[in-house]
Parts: sequence; C-alpha cells; structure tokens
Amino acid sequence: MSEKVAILDAGAQYGKVIDRRVRELSIQSEILPMNTSASDLQDYSAIIISGGPESVYGESAPEYDPEIFHLGIPTLGICYGMQLMNHVFGGEIVQKERREDGVCKIGLLNNSKLFQGSHGYESVLMSHGDSIETVAEGFEVVARSNGLIAAIENPKKHLYGVQFHPEVDLTENGITFLRNFLYDIASFSGTYTMEHREQKAIKYIQETVGDKKVLVLVSGGVDSTVCATLLNKALGPEKVYAVHIDNGFMRLDESKKVEPGLRKNGLELQVIDASEEFYSATTKIDGQETLQLRHSISPEDKRRIIGDTFMRVAEKAIRDLDLDPSKVYLAQGTLRPDLIESASELVSGKAQVIKTHHNDTELVRELRRQGRVIEPLKDYHKDEVRKLGESLGLPNELVWRQPFPGPGLAIRILCAEEPFIDREFNRTNEDLFSISNYIDAHLSFKDKVRALFPKQLDPDSRKALNDLEERFSAIEGINATLLPIKTVGVQGDGRTYSYLAGLSGEKNWDDLFFLAQWIPKICHNVNRIAYVFGEQIVSPVKDITKTYLSPDVIHQLQLADDIVNTILADYSLLESLSQVPVISFPVHFGEEGNRSIAIRTFITNDFMTGVPAVPGKEMPEEALDLMVRRILSEVPNISRVAYDLTSKPPGTTEWE
Ligand code: XMP
Repeated sequence: MSEKVAILDAGAQYGKVIDRRVRELSIQSEILPMNTSASDLQDYSAIIISGGPESVYGESAPEYDPEIFHLGIPTLGICYGMQLMNHVFGGEIVQKERREDGVCKIGLLNNSKLFQGSHGYESVLMSHGDSIETVAEGFEVVARSNGLIAAIENPKKHLYGVQFHPEVDLTENGITFLRNFLYDIASFSGTYTMEHREQKAIKYIQETVGDKKVLVLVSGGVDSTVCATLLNKALGPEKVYAVHIDNGFMRLDESKKVEPGLRKNGLELQVIDASEEFYSATTKIDGQETLQLRHSISPEDKRRIIGDTFMRVAEKAIRDLDLDPSKVYLAQGTLRPDLIESASELVSGKAQVIKTHHNDTELVRELRRQGRVIEPLKDYHKDEVRKLGESLGLPNELVWRQPFPGPGLAIRILCAEEPFIDREFNRTNEDLFSISNYIDAHLSFKDKVRALFPKQLDPDSRKALNDLEERFSAIEGINATLLPIKTVGVQGDGRTYSYLAGLSGEKNWDDLFFLAQWIPKICHNVNRIAYVFGEQIVSPVKDITKTYLSPDVIHQLQLADDIVNTILADYSLLESLSQVPVISFPVHFGEEGNRSIAIRTFITNDFMTGVPAVPGKEMPEEALDLMVRRILSEVPNISRVAYDLTSKPPGTTEWE
C-alpha cells in the first residue's frame, strides 16, 4: 500500500487547502471526485472527505459509493464529510434554525486520538447550516459546540468526523488534528518531501510548448512575474513575449512603473494601453450579450467582461506581432485558489462559484479546451509561488508584493443604480439596532439570540448564553445601522451577495470586533460589517449615489488607494498585512453625489480564510487615523471612511 491520502471532494471551497496542508505534513495526496469507487481507493492509506455546499438529503447531493466506509481505511470526514458518514450508518442530519459561521469554541468530551495534545477547549472555524441530530450506531460524540455536535468517532471502524474545518488557519490547532489523524491514526511516516518544484515546472513548460512560442500576460504582481521568469528560463527569452495590458483599473501610475521595474529584473515587457477597449467592452454570458463594462453593475458581469477582454486584447497583440495564433500559447500565472473559487473543472467542478477569476472565464476555458493556454503555476498556492520566486532569484520587493487582483480597481468599486432595500431591510435594521442597544432590545429579538443556543440548555450553554447577553448589554455608545448596498461574501461553502452593516460612535475596537463577529450569526443576510468613522449614525440610511465604473470614480479610488499605500509603506506594514484593498462604496450619508471609502486590512496565509488587523495591535491606530484624515481632506467628494471588521468567511477579501 502506498503512503498516499485520497481527498474526496464534495464541493468544498477549502478542498485545495486540505491538499496543501497534507503536503505541508510531507504526505502525498490526490484530490478525487466524491463518486470514486471503493475499489479505486484500496491503494490509499487514508481518506479525507471534504466539506461541500449540499445537504446529504439534497437532490443535488454528490454521488458516492457507500462501500468506501467499509474498506477499513482510516477516514476523516470534514463538515459535509462527517454528516455523510453519520448518514450512511443510520444517523440523522437536520437543518437547524441556527447556522454556525465563523470561529466557535468547542468543548472536547473524551480523549479522542484525533484531539491528542488539546486541553479541552478549541477555537475552530465552523461554516454550516445542517447539523447532526442523532448519532449513528457505533459512533460516539467527542466534541460539542454550544450544544451542537462538533465531532464524532468510531475508532473500531477507523472512522472520524469533524463538523469544523481543521484545514484553515482560523482553526487554531487544525494542523495538529490533521497530524494526529495522519500520523497517529493512519500511521503515515511522512516520507513525501516536496519534489524540486522548479525543475518539475520547467519540464512541464518545455514538453508542452515544444518549438512553439508563448505570449505571457504580466500584471506586475508576483504570480505573473514568476510565471514569466519561469518561461524565460525554460524556453529562452527569444520564444517568450511578455505583455502588460493596462485595463484602466490599475493603481495610480502602476502601469508606468511596471515596465522599468521588470526590465531591471531581466524581463522585456511590452505595455499595451487598452483602457478604452475595456471601458466599452461587452461579452456573452449564457449566450446573451452583456451591457458595456461602463454600464455594468453586477460583480460577476464585470469580472467576465474584463477576463474575456484580456484574452481578446492578447489575441490582437499576437496578430500585431505578426505571429501565427495557432503557434502561440497564451500563458497566465493562474494559481490553484483562482481555479477553486471560479469552480473550475481543472480542480473540481463541484465547488460553488465564489467569483469568476479574470483568468478562468468562459473564453479562457474555451481556449484551454483548444489547448492554447499554458498555466505552469496552476498547482501552486500563493506561498509556494513566493518560494519559487525566491529560488528563481527574484528580489524580495517583488516576491513579497501584496497581491492585486487582475480586474484591478474594477472589483473595488461597488457599482449600483439604486439603493438595495428588500423586504428584509427594515426588520434587519431594527435587529441591528437591538444588537447594539441590547438592554432596550425587544423580547422577540432576545429570543433570536437565545435561539442560537439549544432548546434544552445544559449548564455549559446556559453559561455561554448568559455571558453573551452580559457582553452585549455592556456595550455603550455604538450604533449598528444597515447600509443599502450589497457586497460579496462566502458562507457555508457558498457565495453570498448581501448587506453591509455600519457600526458608528465609540471607537472601542474590542466591542466593535465582538459585534462584527456576532452580527452575521444573528442576521444571516448581513455578510460584512465596517466601522464608519465620524459622527454616530442615528437615522436609517436609505440613499446612494448612482455609481458605474466611470473615470471620475476610478480616479477618486486611485487617490485614496495611493494615500493608504503610502502610509502602509511609511509604517512598514506592507509585509505584516497580507493585503489591504481600498474600496469605493456608493453611500453618501446625506451628501448627495458623494461616495465613501473603505479600508479592508486582511491577514492570511492561504487567502481562503483570514482576519482583519486589529488597530492598536496589528497596526498602529495612528496610521489608520492618518489614512482617514488624509482621504477626507485630499480626495474630492468623499463623505465618510470606513474600516472593514469582517473575517473571511463570512466576507471575502474583495467587496466587488
Ligand atoms: P477574495 O475576495 O475572494 O479574494 O477573498 C482572494 C484573493 O484573490 C484575489 N483576487 C483575484 N486575483 N484575479 C486575481 O488575480 C481575480 O479575478 C481576483 N479576484 C480576487 C484577492 O485580491 C485576494 O487576494
């Protein structure tokens, strides 16, 4: 039997992160479809079943072979995987009134091998609506969270299940649990050390490209720069054409800086100014022609138009260079997470689309089918690309640049024609008011908070509920208000596009982050929370400034983004904060025609999950205050500045 883990993919957003974690533990892994048959799994020494967006009873639940649970191979079910395991052995799963989204505390009940080394309580990432109601025969509950079942096991059959996600950073000791499973339960010895990845990538490029040529799109960021450098090394510069396409959504003067910066590192680059072309571009979605980009407000439309236009401009560049398109590959620095979040079939067709990456649109997929695209980094995660960049000799300032999305500022400008006010607006706004003024909250609202806990309160959950109510009641001087716009989020393995809540008043970061953590658990149609600097917001906010991707809005955001980045550099924060998107959102707070700016700090390793920086801890408050002051005084027509308090999940990095 080989030392290999099979990861069965039930459609998880975090599926690839499991794979990466396993490799980090020096163990070989393969991602296989959920319906892989038991006979095809016999050669594996362990099985991990991922989470997924479906319910085990759902019509579109992924198919599977129940025999996989009778192979005697140590198996770990994660989230959906655990529920499936319980279901197969006769346990019951139900959709509970309450979802668990975000970091939760779980209590461990016995000394399961899975949790060796733990001290009884653990901080873990939950993201589910379904829960185990009754436990299958032969299984034992080994962890609980607020009365819900958080882990089960049947050691005799070598079956283990966890409701939470051990693979993500937000689960503090997740890697320890995975190590316990793989080393102690499945008896791996960890012989799979990472192959020399550079050699492997170079071989792949040489074999694929042969005597053809390559046109590589270079944005100036780490992925495409590493990709271009690797191509140069594999094929020699005479076969590689590097092109930077300015789509009009770059940072202030970015396109001007890219070319000399890369030339210094031995990459000759042609810069194409295609901003006009992007601005009026359209594309086809499901056979229908979209509006022009400058009139599009839907995030997914914007993404797909931009992605397709990149390809069209690249094709035109090939013709302008007098090259034969059938003899030229298009190269992109696509990474593994890009493909996961776009639900690409290259990784797994089962995951839900969180966003369509510019490098994985329909047109790109078509070109891939024609065998015209080469993506040497498609098996890499961000941190692995950085390692590769270092081993290729690229300088630190390039390798450690913060990621910047291909569609650029276009996905950091929230576009809208009218305020988003649905039937839930007023009720949700009242709920928000109650959360921040808990002592005066209606009984019906307090019932909602109680509903987060089991009906029959055991002593632990009674204490947790009391603590929570006391914590809510102690908050003073902060108001929570619903804002009439939507941003993109990820909740329970699926994409959401929901309300933003604004907190205002007392700048007590402890209280603000506490509220930000609880609001989405109570109001499920809120996926993002931001602190709005300035006077407390007391009346409902129901107006916005109509916003498209127009030059004045882009320029406004470029100025704000430049201020934030200058201050980040001055305070040496560009490395410790993984990424800091600056966002334009169309709420004018009473000053018609104005917009507002949000600062979204994000600390992460895997870019699949992460947390915002706490001012005063991970960044000096002084730096943040300076950003706010300078934006308000130097950028025209800005009403307010906000600071995003949301972790991912429930809010993605970008607002879109
Ligand atoms: P989200 O917003 O999903 O983003 O949390 C995760 C990471 O991906 C970046 N991002 C992109 N990068 N093309 C890219 O090259 C894209 O279309 C794209 N969309 C998001 C985002 O900035 C973050 O680092």
